[in-house]
Amino acid sequence: MPAFDRLSAPPLRSELREPDRSVLMADPSFFDVEYVINAHMAGQIGQVDRKRARRQWQALHDVFEAIGLHVSVAEGVLGLPDLVFTANQSFPVRDGTRRVVLSQMALPPRRAEVAHIARHFEERGFECLALPEGSVLEGMGDVLWHPGRRFAYAGWGFRTQRASLDAFADAIGAPVLALKLVDERFYHLDTCLAPLDESCALYVEEAFTPEGRAAIRTCFPDAVAVPVDEAARGFACNGVTTRGHFIVQRGCAFSTSVARSRGLSVVEVETGEFLKSGGSVGCLHMRLQEAW
Ligand code: ARG
Repeated sequence: MPAFDRLSAPPLRSELREPDRSVLMADPSFFDVEYVINAHMAGQIGQVDRKRARRQWQALHDVFEAIGLHVSVAEGVLGLPDLVFTANQSFPVRDGTRRVVLSQMALPPRRAEVAHIARHFEERGFECLALPEGSVLEGMGDVLWHPGRRFAYAGWGFRTQRASLDAFADAIGAPVLALKLVDERFYHLDTCLAPLDESCALYVEEAFTPEGRAAIRTCFPDAVAVPVDEAARGFACNGVTTRGHFIVQRGCAFSTSVARSRGLSVVEVETGEFLKSGGSVGCLHMRLQEAW
């Protein structure tokens, strides 16, 4: 099944209403900014307060558990400071089987993370699917499911490559709409598109091409454009909707009011140390409908 670049019809079939049950996080002991691979990391090498990062991570972990998700924590690894961003190393197939697609990271400093996360899944009875050699795809950082539907959106251009999406669509057995990302502040799809429910998503207009914007508005008829500053600094579109809650970096006033208007209960958290690395709530988790 090839991925497609233009939308022929909105994804109307609603087949999937299983609630999320599990989250994967990774221990932040070795989190740091040690290299610069996105615009947010510039000037941040050595600036992370590890104790504060640990407290922020723990508070987010506790929010996930408090809303009824089971959190599984992968060990941190010395020398892999970005391992803590578990959105990136894998993607859940979400078809009732315990299967995840393994990522192939774009940039050398992050490549060793994937084997570590693969082991974590395998030890828990999940099957890990590999993409063809030479593929580049960064998991849930660049691919998001449409809520309630077996239809996915893939951002490409900065990390994930367009050429990798056909094999990826085959692996997950679902249609994938390819969306080109054009603004380096929004280098992963989960920094500029946040589905809230079946017809509403927060998105950043500046991050997409005119065709991409139009496709998003077709798929999410109630889509709302977020002020670019709130998305670039506050990582509003890295907010996560699950189990009736919208969990997001503190201070995203516009986005939280949209979430409330959709009936979601807003949980604001502080992820300031992780913002220095270009990540927030969404990047710090990988979400499954399967129980651990
Ligand atoms: N420093 C990490 C990187 O540039 C941050 C990853 C953020 N993850 C995400 N899902 N957006 O790769």
